Amino acid sequence: MRRGQRFDPTAADRPVLVFDGVFKAYRPDCPVLRGFSLTIQRGEFMFVTGPSGAGKSTLLRLLYAAEQVDAGRILFLGREVGRLTQDSVPFLRRNIGIVFQDFKLIENFTVLENVGLPLQVLGLPERVVNLRVGEVLERVGLGGRGHERASVLSGGEKQRVAIARAIVSEPALLLADEPTGNLDPQLAVDILGLFEDIHATGVTVMFATHDRSLLDIRPRRVVVLDEGRAFDVPQGLEGAALGAA
Ligand SMILES: Nc1ncnc2c1ncn2[C@@H]1O[C@H](COP(=O)(O)OP(=O)(O)OP(=O)(O)O)[C@@H](O)[C@H]1O
Ligand SMILES: [Mg+2]
Repeated sequence: MRRGQRFDPTAADRPVLVFDGVFKAYRPDCPVLRGFSLTIQRGEFMFVTGPSGAGKSTLLRLLYAAEQVDAGRILFLGREVGRLTQDSVPFLRRNIGIVFQDFKLIENFTVLENVGLPLQVLGLPERVVNLRVGEVLERVGLGGRGHERASVLSGGEKQRVAIARAIVSEPALLLADEPTGNLDPQLAVDILGLFEDIHATGVTVMFATHDRSLLDIRPRRVVVLDEGRAFDVPQGLEGAALGAA
């Protein structure tokens, strides 16, 4: 069912995501996004970067409908996010996986319970939940750790659990908001590698970070947020673009 949505032939030729002239201001005198436009094609891996306060988290929050745009529109898989009804919340939940800097795990739940939660919320049968959870834990290198409580895990392991939870519903788009911000440099590289593995399976990835060392690891599309707009950075100039960050 979810596979069907992800590979819907009628959707195959359109971008996964379009921000079209988006304005967002938390205070009228201080807009964060000022006519922000950006298109992400199916299967892209994109870094979003820019200085603290530039609006990286804001644009992700708009996308998963934690905030509303003031003007403009966001199209996700051809549907306007701001116009989704309450009934469409499962559509976003199923098709967007999100990973945060601070993991946002339920600490007294086991790894299995944390990872299975999105599928339980969607009402999937327990048998299917267990099967999927087992698969994704293997993929993130935590096979056999399912019965441990989240609270006993290291930071890197917690982030692996959070990534497993984000991909368990086979989303079309994986969002990450500073997912390596709480990890040491080597763990950050490992976690980026995990995102790359997931990307290699066909998932579109949008990875917000201001860690310039990650941008230098492999050539990827880099978009900088500056004064409320998005700018694509030419290959090789990623470091320069972040000079002010
Ligand atoms: N809920 C809110 N209410 C009011 N202002 C907010 C709110 N959330 C964010 N802001 C402001 O909007 C601006 C953009 O914040 P945002 O968190 O999107 O930036 P960011 O690029 O993610 O920064 P960082 O790199 O520090 O995470 C900042 O000036 C911030 O203070
Ligand atoms: Mg942020």
